[in-house]
This record gives sequence, structure tokens and C-alpha cells, in this order.
Amino acid sequence: KTARDALATMPKAELHLHIEGTLEPELAFELARRNDVPLPWGTLDELRAQYRFENLQSFLDLYYALMRTLRTADDFRDLMLAYLRRAAADGVMHAEIFFDPQVHAFTDHVAYDDVLDGLREGLRIGEKRYGVTGALILSLVRDMDVATADRILDMAQARKDEIVGIGLDSAEVGYPPSMFVDQFARARSFGWHAVAHAGEEGPADYIRQALDLLHAERIDHGIHVLDDDELEARLIRDRIPLTCCPLSNLRLQVVGSIDDHPLPRMVRDGLVCTINSDDPAYFGGYAAANYAALAGAGMPPDTLAALAANSIEASFADDADKERMR
Ligand code: HPA
Ligand code: ZN
Repeated sequence: KTARDALATMPKAELHLHIEGTLEPELAFELARRNDVPLPWGTLDELRAQYRFENLQSFLDLYYALMRTLRTADDFRDLMLAYLRRAAADGVMHAEIFFDPQVHAFTDHVAYDDVLDGLREGLRIGEKRYGVTGALILSLVRDMDVATADRILDMAQARKDEIVGIGLDSAEVGYPPSMFVDQFARARSFGWHAVAHAGEEGPADYIRQALDLLHAERIDHGIHVLDDDELEARLIRDRIPLTCCPLSNLRLQVVGSIDDHPLPRMVRDGLVCTINSDDPAYFGGYAAANYAALAGAGMPPDTLAALAANSIEASFADDADKERMR
């Protein structure tokens, strides 16, 4: 068995994955044709030349442009199935998956129920076919009008039991968690868990806001916690999990190289870290590739195994389901 196989078969959970970020260029082209959505790139190679990002925003521009090709429940089902197949190959037993329904409903005019129907059908078929369990996290898009967040929660309420949690994503700087206090309170009243992207490009204080104001149970990214010793001590003490995404951080130039990634320091300090893939179709690899990148930068196998165990522990699965994954 190769080292890479060992990483791929290590049982793990994926806790930070945007389903729209699994849209590979080939599928985007096929959906554009199928749905008659014009794309500004004539060929796959022209499209492939766009995957060089300076920062979060330059990635988001392409991510939202390709998302426009997703139009029907079948499209969302196919996207989910393609992801679950790759996840299973990487040893992912369970995935808690973000989706951005405000963009689908209010920018691209795809009904919330169609999006949810497609994703849920994908999860149902995928669990049978690949043995991976999945759950959906409705992610609010922080740089859209806050009124659209309220409206999407109106739509989601009738089917609230089909969602496991509320999240917060997209352009971070200038859109602090404090803007979403009411929406998160409402989502928590549905019985949903709460997570939020914070401290990816934004300051450590956004992590504090996510905890204090949104009652986030996990922090997505969170690497800027290292700028604030008091906050870091609190996360260590309260065992707040961080969903780190090394290849994402590399490709969005949050870190200069994988060798400079702060994960080893975070683990040494005692933070509860996990390894995740964020938007794998854009950042050069799925779960196992993220583990492999850290292995290549010298992270020892027992540390990688501990982080995989953390991912199962930090998931929202119940205890019996966690036991199945270990
Ligand atoms: N950060 C913020 N928003 C996102 C991301 C991310 O990495 N991926 C998709 N939406
Ligand atoms: Zn993300």
C-alpha cells in the first residue's frame, strides 16, 4: 500500500465543502450546453486558464459565474452524486455540505425546492451507492442583501428537518458576523446547528463575533485566530473545532506555501483542527489531496490520523453514527 492509499483510506468526515465548489469544468460545460446558459469561455482550455486566483474575491467571481449553469433539480442531483463518488474514494464516511441557495433562488432564479430536491435525491442515491452519509448546511451569502437571507429562511422553514445547520460564507472582509445575528437566531430556533466562515481573510475579531453573536459551534477556516492569543486560549479551552482547508488557503494566497501553513502550529498549540477541501474543483484536490499535501510538508502520519479522528468527533452525526465511522 502506498502512503497516498493510506491517507485515502483513513476514515474521515468532510466538514467544510461547498457543493457548488465541486463543479468541475467538464460538468460546467456540459450543464451550460444542456441548459443553454452562455459562458464567456469558448473551450474547456480557455475555461481552465481561469483557475489562477489572487485572493478570495477572484475565486468567488469564477465560482459564481460557473454556478449559473446549475438550473434544475437533476443538475443538483448529478453534482451531488459526482461529489459523493470522489468522497468515497478518499475515505470520507460522512460529509456536511454547504450550499448557497440565495444565489440559486435570487440570482439564477432556480426555486429553493428544486435545489433542495436535487441535493437530497443525490444524497439518498449516493448513500446507497457509495456508503457515504451526508447532511446539508444552508449557507448565507454575506455579500448579498440581508433581506434575501430572511427570504431564503422563509422558504427553508417548511422543510427545516432536511437541513442540519446554518452557515455563513462568501466575501468576508467588510461583512462581519454581527450583520447576521437575527438570521442565525432564527435558524437556531429551527433546531439547526450553527457554523460560520470567519478568520479566513478577515480578522480574529470576526471569529469572536461568530462565537458570541451567532453562537457558532465550529469555525470554518479560522486560521487568523493565531493573531489573538486570548481568543486562541478560549478556542483551545472550549474545544471549538476549526475546519481548515490547506489547498484552499494555498490557492487563495492566504498562505504563501504549504510548508508555511500554520496547521502544525495550531495542532501543537492544542486547537481542535480538521482537514477539509472547501472547493475542490477549484483548488486542486479533494479530501485525500489535502491530507497528502500536509504529509508532503512533513506532517507525521499519527498527526494526520488524529486530525481525521477530530473530523469525525466534530461532525454533527449522532454517537452511533460516529462509532460506525471510526
Ligand atoms: N470562503 C468564503 N466563501 C466561500 C468559500 C470560501 O472558501 N468557498 C465558497 N464560498
Ligand atoms: Zn468555505
